[in-house]
Amino acid sequence: MKKQALYLILSFSLFYSCKKDQDPLSLNEAYSGGETTVFVSGPTAYTFALSNLDATGLTKHLEADAIFSQHFVTAPATNFGGLGPLFNQNSCESCHLRNGRGNPMLYDGDIQTGGLLKIGLDAQDVHGMPLPVPNYGGQIQTKAIFGQDPEAVISFTEWSQLLTYSDGSQVQLNKKLYQLSTTYTSAPSNYNSSFRMAPPVFGLGLLEAIAEADILQNEDPNDNNGDGISGKANWVYNPKTNLVELGRYGWKASNATAEQQSAAAANEDMGLSNSYFPNENCSAQSNCQTGLQSNLDLSTENLELMAFYFQTLAVPASRNVESEAFKAGKIIFFEAKCNACHSPTFTTSYHPISSLSYQKIHPYSDFLLHDMGSDLADNRREALAEGSEWRTPPLWGLGLSKVVNPKVQFLHDGRAATIEEAILWHGGEAENSRNFVLQLSLEQRNKLLYFLNSL
Ligand code: HEC
Ligand code: HEC
Repeated sequence: MKKQALYLILSFSLFYSCKKDQDPLSLNEAYSGGETTVFVSGPTAYTFALSNLDATGLTKHLEADAIFSQHFVTAPATNFGGLGPLFNQNSCESCHLRNGRGNPMLYDGDIQTGGLLKIGLDAQDVHGMPLPVPNYGGQIQTKAIFGQDPEAVISFTEWSQLLTYSDGSQVQLNKKLYQLSTTYTSAPSNYNSSFRMAPPVFGLGLLEAIAEADILQNEDPNDNNGDGISGKANWVYNPKTNLVELGRYGWKASNATAEQQSAAAANEDMGLSNSYFPNENCSAQSNCQTGLQSNLDLSTENLELMAFYFQTLAVPASRNVESEAFKAGKIIFFEAKCNACHSPTFTTSYHPISSLSYQKIHPYSDFLLHDMGSDLADNRREALAEGSEWRTPPLWGLGLSKVVNPKVQFLHDGRAATIEEAILWHGGEAENSRNFVLQLSLEQRNKLLYFLNSL
């Protein structure tokens, strides 16, 4: 701990001088994931293994890929059984389509969606996570195995607002407000809810390989440098280590490792018990007492493999980096101070998977929590993340999102149909950046979007 503090002080002063002099055009952009980068840009762009992975690693990666795309079935089954009783989808890939974002919810009761509704009481458990809602738990499962009732149907109403650029052109921003209908038992009262879209899952090993101190040095919770932007780490409980660790994964950074996130997903989204969550996601519910297996639904070996899959999924290279439009757009990105949260560059530290170690990467995220204002708030607290706080999502691979799946939308609940809309929803600490964009000319806006679409 002491060593870390010393390192923090030392690196803080160094970093500070670097950040100010940072030349937006000097970064070797194309290699978003350092030597792990893959130069691909088609619909399968998110599906490649780290380009510097050795043969043994590649074999393991392909084995892990099969588990990620595996459709689990109900018990009893010798392999990949244990789905449900309650679940949202029967495979990881049904939400993380081609390893990218999930499909948005298109109509009331749409159960094909790649999103899910988290619910909770306003009170927190000992680890700071919302207490489960009686009879429903922490997430609404919209599917159930044969003979059981799903918890509820998710329906929504729509809300919209108009935003006007300085040049008079307007953009309509839409969002959905979600409710429960057709509940299997009396509807819960006084609960908070948060709709979440499945984020892309590539590059997660590189994120794991960033040293904790390197993420923490960007923290400024009291905004001591007075730039209106704080940035704060989430500290979350990891059941495997029994320790409180830096949260890195999820829209509110409430999971510490790729493995913990996978274990939570397996349990909540698919009804698979595992070494992190040995009980089904439904212990006391009347619609959840059949179809159980005596052993863990997801073996510890398969859980480790699942995590290995994300750890070794490559980031696609940026495109057009030598073009004038890219360079001009990148300058606007810096002028708008997008980089204050979407930090362009990190160098990874040691990681047991050696391909991930010591790579200069361009995730465009500080992986910290920021207050994004009331329009984006879900008013749900997860550990230290408050109701209006979200983890800066990385922007690498962003421009390929709709190539991978034309239906996808952006932001935590998938409300933004375009990258432009995603920017215009920015409020709170990012309000100045948003206002900067609002006064840009159409030509400048197009350059900014060209740059983002090239990432
Ligand atoms: C019903 C849709 C759904 C299914 C099925 C699903 N996920 Fe997810 N996944 C999500 C959502 C939503 C999030 C964001 C959760 C949050 O913000 O807390 C997420 C987040 C993740 C992340 C973190 C990504 C990041 O950048 O922080 C990983 C890793 C992940 N899921 C792995 C898995 C694995 C492994 C499975 C299969 C066992 C799986 N998911 C199944 C919807 C799903
Ligand atoms: C104060 C920190 C901050 C600043 C400044 C900021 N962002 Fe963000 N950005 C975030 C956070 C946090 C989110 C996620 C919000 C959510 O999902 O509700 C986000 C989301 C996004 C997304 C959607 C990503 C996705 O995967 O859905 C894009 C695109 C984006 N920002 C671009 C920009 C651009 C361009 C600028 C500058 C004009 C900018 N941001 C300024 C913090 C910031």
